[in-house]
Amino acid sequence: MPNYFDGTDRGSSLIVSEEVLLPDFVPDELMHRERELQAIADSIKPLLTRRTPTNLFIHGASGTGKTTCVKYLIKQLMEHSSAVLPVYVNCWENPTQMSIYNRIVEEMRLPLPRRGLAADEIFDRIMQFVRNYKKPILLVLDEMDGLRHDKLLYVVARSNEQKLSFGIVGLSNNKALLSKLDSRIRSSLRFSEMEFAQYSEEQLVSILRLRAERALAPGSFDERFLRKVARSAECGSARVAIERLWKAAKHAEKAGRGKIMLQDLEDALGAEPEFKLPELKLSSEEVLLVEILKGGELGSSDIYERFIRKNPMTKRQIRNYLELLEKKGILVSRELPAEGMLRPKMFKLR
Ligand SMILES: Nc1ncnc2c1ncn2[C@@H]1O[C@H](COP(=O)(O)OP(=O)(O)O)[C@@H](O)[C@H]1O
Ligand SMILES: [Mg+2]
Repeated sequence: MPNYFDGTDRGSSLIVSEEVLLPDFVPDELMHRERELQAIADSIKPLLTRRTPTNLFIHGASGTGKTTCVKYLIKQLMEHSSAVLPVYVNCWENPTQMSIYNRIVEEMRLPLPRRGLAADEIFDRIMQFVRNYKKPILLVLDEMDGLRHDKLLYVVARSNEQKLSFGIVGLSNNKALLSKLDSRIRSSLRFSEMEFAQYSEEQLVSILRLRAERALAPGSFDERFLRKVARSAECGSARVAIERLWKAAKHAEKAGRGKIMLQDLEDALGAEPEFKLPELKLSSEEVLLVEILKGGELGSSDIYERFIRKNPMTKRQIRNYLELLEKKGILVSRELPAEGMLRPKMFKLR
C-alpha cells in the first residue's frame, strides 16, 4: 500500500504562500489606484483635526479593488493617528442599525452592558464616546446596498448636524444606490461620488504578476500564463483573475508539477461550475437575477425575496425582467401544477 501522506511535501513546493492568493488578503502594495487612494485620503483627512470631511460614495464593478483600497487606508490611518476611530462594516453581514452600532461599540473597546440596551441607548453611548474622547468615527459601510433601511444614515446625518461626529465612506457595486437614498439624507450627508473603473488586461497582468511573485515559487509561472489568466477574467475583475491564478496553481501542484501550464488554467476553469453569460448586454437587474439563479432552480417568490434585498422593486417589474431573460434564452421556466388559484412558476438558468 502507498502511504497516502506521501507527496504532500512535494505538492506544496509550487505554492509558497497560499494566503497571498486568498480573497481576504490585503496586499501591502496596491497598483493602479494611486489617484483613488489619494483622493479618498484627502476626503477623510479633515476628520483628523475634527473638521468636516467629504463623505464618499464609491461605486464600481466587483473586483475593482474598492474594499481593498479602503481597508488599506484604514490601516494607514490607524498607523498615522489615533484621532479618528475607523469602523469597517460589511452591511451584508451587518444589515441592521443595531448590528452596526454593535460593530462600532466593538471598535470602541468600551465595556457596555450588552443586555437589554435599546438601539438609541447604544447610540447615546457612542455619542458620549465621541464627545469624551473627542474622537470622530470614520464609518465605512461596505456593500452598502445590504443596509436594510435608511434609519442608520438618518440618525448619523442628524447627529452630524448638531456636532460633527461621523465621516462616512459607502461602497457598492450598485451605482444607482445613492439616488435611491432618502433626499433628506442625501442633502444632509452630501456624498461625493467616486467610480472605480474596471482594470485593463495590462493592469490585471501586473496585479497578477506581483501576487504570483509573492505566492508562488520562482520559475513556476511565465508571462504568457499570466496574460492568459488576465484575459480569461472578463469584466476586469482582479478578484476573478487572482482566484483563477490560485486555482490553476492548485491544479498544477496537485498534478505534482513545478510549473503551471496553460492547460492548468483551462482544466481549473473547466472544473468551475460557473454559468457562462452569453455575449449579450444585460442590465444590472438581469445580471442580479442570473446571480440569484446560479445556485439552481428557484420559485418566483424565492427569487423575489432575494432580489429585493439587493434592489427594491415591485413583483411586476421583477417578473418583466424574468420574462426578458427567458426571451433572451438565458433562463427557462416551468409551471408547477396549480395549487388553488396559484400556479407557481419555477425558473432556472438554461
Ligand atoms: N489595485 C490592486 N492591486 C492589487 N490587488 C488588487 C487591486 N485591486 C484589487 N486587488 C485584489 O483583487 C481582489 C478583489 O478586490 P476587492 O477590493 O475585494 O474588490 P471590490 O471590493 O471592488 O469587489 C482582492 O483580492 C484584492 O486584493
Ligand atoms: Mg468589495
